[in-house]
Amino acid sequence: MNSDRPFRLGVLGSGKGSNFVALAEAIAQGVVPAEVAIVLSDVEDSGILAQARARQLMARYIAPGKFRTKLDEEAERAYVSALQEARVDLIVLAGFMRVLKGDFLRAFEGRIVNIHPSLLPCFPGLEAWKQAFDHGVKVTGCTVHFVDAGVDSGPIIGQQTVPVLDDDTPETLHARIHAAEHELYPRCVAALAHGSIVVRGRRVVWKRGDLVVG
Ligand code: GRF
Repeated sequence: MNSDRPFRLGVLGSGKGSNFVALAEAIAQGVVPAEVAIVLSDVEDSGILAQARARQLMARYIAPGKFRTKLDEEAERAYVSALQEARVDLIVLAGFMRVLKGDFLRAFEGRIVNIHPSLLPCFPGLEAWKQAFDHGVKVTGCTVHFVDAGVDSGPIIGQQTVPVLDDDTPETLHARIHAAEHELYPRCVAALAHGSIVVRGRRVVWKRGDLVVG
């Protein structure tokens, strides 16, 4: 963290934006020492852009280009430029439904984080809560991790557990995981903004000994 100026976040999302809202509220309450520099989305009418605009934050739709699950080259350049112009310190993926590739990852190496709705490395990929439910696990949760070239495979920063109840449906389980995400993500971003996280290979260590498994 550069103490001369606030820690600047670039938030990317494609959906409702509830994790972004949790983060914005934690920032407003002074729990996360950071500011949202820019919010970007590949979905023009996404909730996350509406939530950002409602808070008078810079919010931009950038067309993703011709592919369904990743950005095309031109789009990738546009995302990287927007984030560099906004001078972001950390990129926070909050439901961004496209896999980030080479040039994007190289531009922000070690500075991109994501939240995933399972206890990784179990159930990477789509609809992780449903994968966990269908598998019959008794405990699942959510994971905040650094982003690398794989799918949900980067070093784990923090995890929060959620029990699977006998009368759960995939939907009720998903709702409780979402609520856990809203606690975990601000906690992890705060630690990153404080500079209290050290990465040693795959192991991420919290220098201040903050609780990382809840
Ligand atoms: C969350 O469930 C997160 O785990 C996944 O995308 C979802 C985003 O939800 N990566 P929201 O847009 O923050 O409500």
